[in-house]
Amino acid sequence: MRRIEQGVTRPEPIAVEIDGASVMVHPGETVAVAVLASPSRRFRDDRSGAPRGMFCNMGTCSECTVWAALGTSPWRRVRGCLVLVEPTVRISTRDPESRP
Ligand code: FES
Repeated sequence: MRRIEQGVTRPEPIAVEIDGASVMVHPGETVAVAVLASPSRRFRDDRSGAPRGMFCNMGTCSECTVWAALGTSPWRRVRGCLVLVEPTVRISTRDPESRP
């Protein structure tokens, strides 16, 4: 993923957890940006097992659905393009309740 660097000032990056890995993102960026900054760059899988990616980036298609939990709160499905990262957020691209 490439970020616009010229003429942009961002706050110091924070680490968020995606599928157990640490990914650096800037406060104010979305969960979807964090997923795109992760090594896999993949969101959920569809029923056939194929990875999905972002499509609309405005909350209407749900292609960016992942699971997120803040601190010790329970996991919930979110549209990644609508939710901002927070320092204690954990992100999973698979349903944490169905993991073996
Ligand atoms: S990319 Fe379409 S809802 Fe997020």
